[in-house]
Amino acid sequence: MEAPAPASIRAGRLIVVSNRAPFRVIQQGAAQRIEATVGGVATTFLHLLERHGGLWIAWSGGVETPAPLKVPPGDPRFAIHFLGLSERQIARYYWGMCNRGLWPLMHLMPLNCHLTTRDWNDYREVNGLFAARCLGQLGAGDTVWIQDFHLALMPALVRRSRPSAPVGLFWHVPFPPADILKILPWYQELLRGMLGADLIGFHTGAYASAFLDCCEKLLGATVEREQGWVRGPSGATRVGSYPIGVPVDFFRKLSAAPKVRRRLAQVRRGVHVERIVLGVDRLDYTKGLVRRLQAFERFLEENPEYHRRVTLVQIAVPSRTRVPEYLNLTRQVEELVAQIVTRFSSEGWLPVRYLYRQYDPEVLVAYYLAADVALVTPLADGMNLVAKEYVAARSDEGGVLVLSELAGAAVELSDALLVNPYNIDEVARQLKRALELDPGQRRQRMRKLRLAVERNTLTRWSQSFLHALRAARAANNLTPARAGPARRGP
Ligand code: UDP
Ligand code: G6P
Repeated sequence: MEAPAPASIRAGRLIVVSNRAPFRVIQQGAAQRIEATVGGVATTFLHLLERHGGLWIAWSGGVETPAPLKVPPGDPRFAIHFLGLSERQIARYYWGMCNRGLWPLMHLMPLNCHLTTRDWNDYREVNGLFAARCLGQLGAGDTVWIQDFHLALMPALVRRSRPSAPVGLFWHVPFPPADILKILPWYQELLRGMLGADLIGFHTGAYASAFLDCCEKLLGATVEREQGWVRGPSGATRVGSYPIGVPVDFFRKLSAAPKVRRRLAQVRRGVHVERIVLGVDRLDYTKGLVRRLQAFERFLEENPEYHRRVTLVQIAVPSRTRVPEYLNLTRQVEELVAQIVTRFSSEGWLPVRYLYRQYDPEVLVAYYLAADVALVTPLADGMNLVAKEYVAARSDEGGVLVLSELAGAAVELSDALLVNPYNIDEVARQLKRALELDPGQRRQRMRKLRLAVERNTLTRWSQSFLHALRAARAANNLTPARAGPARRGP
């Protein structure tokens, strides 16, 4: 059983702010259609706020500003307050600075970075809009929890108006070393914006340590490494590693639900092969789909005995489709799938099934249960929730996880078969190994992985972050310099 709501949530309201909401409201004449979105932040806070209540401020996904959405509609636990952006802001802030600037930079892929002052100005402006909306809602005793790289400047903006409000920031993507961050012409502004928070959380100690390095080297800030503090004349920011968890109960229950079992039987009948290998990703260049497909091709080249016996099911969720790098990737992936199918398929056997769409959790869990092997091979990934969800869903202790050592999840899930996703030969070799693990070893590995995922559930993660946030705020309250609305940070 997961623990009840943390006191820090019960004390005042929890105000979550993120760029992406878990739903989009589509107006069709007088009628409304609600569409789910896909991504780690959306999934995480949907589960969390459904359990614990609160308020969520997020972009509507377009220019419109629909009325607040109560979730779930019948018995609301929380409300999403939408923010509409102008076409210009969407183009420059979201498509430009977020997706073509900060995303590749944070994932150590500077060659994909497009950085313009024009986009940065809109990034600054939109952070201001989010801050204003948040301040309009912020009551005494409320806690502000800002999410991800889209809103790096927001903590300092909230802090300036409400010096004593607890403000937390969670960074869901990796954090680069100083030599890479320096590529961003506005790195000081970004760091100072983040340092408006009382607590900044990262998925791993390595990302937290990279952030501390940046504060020291690029801002000249005083950094206390052991305890994880960045100190400035007007306050201090606690920095730590809080690896995100998944709602284990939810996946455990779903894996036994009759609807999911029926879907599982359907998946098995449909794929109709001895062993299923599964990939589930947003179609994003950080997820390593091209190399994964190349590794699968290598595996088929080298192991003809597996022809007609193994199929790779790749679920690829359309994502950021207006960004040229994503369009190129879509084409590249489709070509590779076609190449493998043309080269190897025979009557009654498709080596790759490519599903270019988004599924709801019930269907996803059916695929998790059908998969003898999950191939999770991102080139860089803050955490990767799919890896943890696969493990959480496997109450049968079946299945083998092949996991990129470059994903944040590898720190906790070291009992997976770890691979370097850039090394196609190694991925092909480990895939074969995964298929041939004897049942005892397979079960033992999955049992250990499950223990790791159960140790750190979604509720525990939020509890530990929010408790640390309260403590950091209390420490700051004791510092007289924090009393006024002075600019924080070094
Ligand atoms: N997901 C989903 N439907 C899909 C594919 C993925 O709901 O068809 C969810 C998945 O369950 C997970 C999230 O999207 O919770 C993906 O999170 P992850 O950390 O793996 O990657 P991200 O997309 O956030 O980079
Ligand atoms: C990653 C980011 C999230 C983002 C998600 C989906 O997980 O860390 O902040 O919401 O990708 O991307 P999108 O651009 O569609 O929101």
